[in-house]
Amino acid sequence: MAKSMALLRPRLAAALLALCACAMAAPAAGANVSITTCRSFCGNITVDYPFALHAGCGHAGFRDLLYCIDRTLMLHLPSGSYRVLDVDYAYRGLTLHDPAMSDCRAIDRSPGGRGNGFVVEPWRAPFLAPDPDNVFLLLGCRASSPLFQGFPDRHLPCRNVSGMGCGDYYGCPAWDDYGRRPSGAAYGSAVPPECCAVSWGAIRAVNVSRLQCEGYSSAYSLAPVRAEGAGGWAYGIRVAWALPEANRGFCGACRATGGVCGHDVESHGDLCLCGDWNSTSNCDSSADAAPSSAAAPGAAIAALLLALLASGLSSGSIANM
Ligand SMILES: *[C@@H]1O[C@H](CO)[C@@H](O)[C@H](O)[C@H]1NC(C)=O
Ligand SMILES: *[C@@H]1O[C@H](CO)[C@@H](O)[C@H](O)[C@H]1NC(C)=O
Ligand SMILES: *[C@@H]1O[C@H](CO)[C@@H](O)[C@H](O)[C@H]1NC(C)=O
Ligand SMILES: *[C@@H]1O[C@H](CO)[C@@H](O)[C@H](O)[C@H]1NC(C)=O
Ligand SMILES: *[C@@H]1O[C@H](CO)[C@@H](O)[C@H](O)[C@H]1NC(C)=O
Repeated sequence: MAKSMALLRPRLAAALLALCACAMAAPAAGANVSITTCRSFCGNITVDYPFALHAGCGHAGFRDLLYCIDRTLMLHLPSGSYRVLDVDYAYRGLTLHDPAMSDCRAIDRSPGGRGNGFVVEPWRAPFLAPDPDNVFLLLGCRASSPLFQGFPDRHLPCRNVSGMGCGDYYGCPAWDDYGRRPSGAAYGSAVPPECCAVSWGAIRAVNVSRLQCEGYSSAYSLAPVRAEGAGGWAYGIRVAWALPEANRGFCGACRATGGVCGHDVESHGDLCLCGDWNSTSNCDSSADAAPSSAAAPGAAIAALLLALLASGLSSGSIANM
């Protein structure tokens, strides 16, 4: 009994080693997953990592965010839907348009509040926020607005943002049509001012109705604002996005091995999509195969064999060879 076991062990170990070599050989060649697995177009806008239009593609921080509706790219947040005018991958910026916001040509206000404003889910906040150089101009806010409460040191949180503020905005032709051009003191002690300019950092949520405002405008500057005034600003919401530092290494390794970066739709962890299997690291490491959601026989068997081999090794069969 003991003798036959001793004979069997080296053979078993050799067989397992051979199987292991096979299992390692296939994925070690890397994957060759088509870039179009997750990249897509909506109208003339490219949607690519970290964004995606397919579940499981892109980074989890941007899941359930973009939708392509009639060749128009839309971004959905708790505060509403925005048209995406541009995705700037080099500078990590999105340019959004809210049709219900005021600009230099038209003031859009109603007592109940007009426009989406900008409110991000708390879990998404680390990944997506309006650019520090984006100014929100809150219009017709009531004296009881939270904007004007709780700022004992500075009477008002209103101020110029990147050279853009209410003083210049009051020069817009929109006020002629509105029929009442506010005079002066945008940042004085007059409460409530007709307009209050704030940066995202000052309030962290632009909920027009909660702030008891009648409407808002938003503008951003990509280059230093020249002296042309509010007529020369770009109107819209400029949003910056960020990814965790560790993601850069993960995604770089995934791509270098022929994979496409994505995420697990349930755990939301990073996944490298390697074709017929998924990896939690990259397409060269079959040891990191993610439990497959769909049937993936190849990857599952490879993982099983590796597990088997590992248990064989730890029971000491190698030492007996
Ligand atoms: C990847 O696949 C494409 C098409 O399936 C092929 O043209 C290309 O040569 C392949 N690249 C590698 C590195 O195998
Ligand atoms: C997309 O097309 C519109 C006009 O249809 C144009 O204004 C815009 O600049 C284009 N965007 C890109 C990213 O090419
Ligand atoms: C905005 O504020 C209103 C009133 O406080 C609230 O009912 C609503 O849920 C808020 N919207 C968002 C997107 O937070
Ligand atoms: C805001 O900008 C306007 C126009 O450039 C300028 O006249 C005003 O002094 C600025 N206000 C503050 C508080 O910096
Ligand atoms: C790999 O992950 C993607 C995205 O989560 C999923 O759609 C796909 O079904 C997974 N494939 C396997 C083989 O588990």
